Amino acid sequence: MHGMHARLPKNFVLEERIERYAQVIELQPTHYAGRWADACRLLTGPDTAAFERIHVDLGCGKGAYVVQAAQANPHALFVAIDAEPICVAYTAQHVMEAGLRNVVVVPGLGSQLASMFGPRELSAITLNFPTPFPRKKEADKRLTILERLMEYREVLADGASVTLKTDSLPFWQFSRRQFELAGYRMLWLTDDARGERPDSIATEYEQRLTAQGATVYAIEATPDPAPKHVEQTESLSLADYLPEDLSTLSYVPHGMQGLVTNRRNHEARLRGKRR
Ligand SMILES: C[S@@+](CC[C@H](N)C(=O)[O-])C[C@H]1O[C@@H](n2cnc3c(N)ncnc32)[C@H](O)[C@@H]1O
Repeated sequence: MHGMHARLPKNFVLEERIERYAQVIELQPTHYAGRWADACRLLTGPDTAAFERIHVDLGCGKGAYVVQAAQANPHALFVAIDAEPICVAYTAQHVMEAGLRNVVVVPGLGSQLASMFGPRELSAITLNFPTPFPRKKEADKRLTILERLMEYREVLADGASVTLKTDSLPFWQFSRRQFELAGYRMLWLTDDARGERPDSIATEYEQRLTAQGATVYAIEATPDPAPKHVEQTESLSLADYLPEDLSTLSYVPHGMQGLVTNRRNHEARLRGKRR
């Protein structure tokens, strides 16, 4: 089971919610590997064509992004995936309340993508504000680590892309190197995603964190031919991507407070010893 737990509101019975919105939740996604577009066309009506594209929103949170994206792209099928059952329940609720027929919600992990989808089945994967897991020992949980990016290659169609948005400069810099190691070509690399694409859908975290002063960093990348030699050569602790002088860090990225506090305390102790 995944190691994160969202706080449950009062009177929230998870099983009840999952049952209530079961119509849009898929508990056995591997059954559809390779045939999502065709299998899901019946969601929209008996005589409709298969979906033109499949878009995965990985780590969908409570679903605000996927609802808006699905409304704007009715010919695409959206598969919203999250590790947290409570997020699955909320996303399913929002999908049903919006009356959307082109979204399926799946409880699961990013590491399961290659078993959920067939080769070249996906047109896009979005990673909106993924949990940074800043410590080295948790690096394998990051959705942009080399191993995951190599797995995504298997399910991405020609010309498909992976788009990352984050409030964390260290996570963005780490991810950029991982995309390069996995043989992706950059289509978009920015330290001002909101300024450059002001009309892009702002996710729940994006709204909350930008209100707190966050900058939005983004990467959009597409797989080039697979690299001949795949090897992790980068530091796996996000502490190594923090600025040398932490006094220049005016905004502490989401999920990195512990790491930054430890570094600040460590530096204060060193200064104390030098006196
Ligand atoms: C910081 S939230 C961002 C939610 C949403 N994308 C947004 O931008 O508002 C990160 C989400 O990713 C989910 N998550 C973290 N690691 C995951 C993994 N390995 N596989 C699937 N979901 C994951 C968490 O449960 C959480 O809902």
